[in-house]
Amino acid sequence: MTTAVTELLLDGPLHGVGVDVVSRGRVSARLARAKFSEAELERFRGRRELPFAAREAVLKAVGGPGILRAPLREMVVAWDRGALTLRPGEAYRQVMQREGVTAARLAVLAISPAHVVVTSLATRAGPPVRARLAYATRGIPVADADDDLDERERAECESRPDPRASIAARVAAHAACLALTGDASARVHAPRDQRPALVGTPERVWLSLAHERDLAVALVATLLP
Ligand SMILES: CC(C)(COP(=O)(O)OP(=O)(O)OC[C@H]1O[C@@H](n2cnc3c(N)ncnc32)[C@H](O)[C@@H]1OP(=O)(O)O)[C@@H](O)C(=O)NCCC(=O)NCCS
Repeated sequence: MTTAVTELLLDGPLHGVGVDVVSRGRVSARLARAKFSEAELERFRGRRELPFAAREAVLKAVGGPGILRAPLREMVVAWDRGALTLRPGEAYRQVMQREGVTAARLAVLAISPAHVVVTSLATRAGPPVRARLAYATRGIPVADADDDLDERERAECESRPDPRASIAARVAAHAACLALTGDASARVHAPRDQRPALVGTPERVWLSLAHERDLAVALVATLLP
């Protein structure tokens, strides 16, 4: 397990967080042509996973329509002075507005020969806030490990297409929450197709999960006074 904690200043109150992991080679040229702008095809040649992961991270952070209904072509991703940025077109700007989001910031958490991991922080209009973030990544064990999940967490994982990946994501979430808050008792509540939450924490925390067949990632955020 890898865990890291960082702090940063946000332009406004935190609305939601999102993380996505995409295996290298998973985004076909055909999919990219269907969903990305011409500029992105050129900009991310050989790294098509980045704009794909960025879109999924933004969808999770912002909320609203899921990947099947979101206006993906209008969620243009760019490199701006060395940073990944979202340049929403009119249709996605409207989605953000409906959700009360004024900006969705992006960051590349990891690029390896096997995966890319991208995070997004969606903020609302209001005074700047200081946030503390923790990330945890976990490889997916070949066999079911005796992980510390409660009954509801285990049942939710068993209902998912890849229970071992869902279990690894929750173990990562527990580790990230422990690193962030010092609390090991929080548990993940994630009704299918809804934003997951960490319950049982004394302070408000935001959570996002993602997994591929061999790697799970959790992003947890809290606010500083
Ligand atoms: C959320 C979404 C980005 C997930 O993408 P994915 O590549 O299938 O899966 P990822 O590994 O990236 O993420 C999986 C995690 O996202 C989380 N998640 C699911 N729905 C979510 C939502 N609406 N918002 C934020 N997070 C969500 C879950 O915690 C899930 O992990 P779990 O199943 O172990 O609990 C994408 O499927 C989507 O937009 N879903 C919205 C709901 C929807 O339209 N579903 C249609 C299914 S046919």
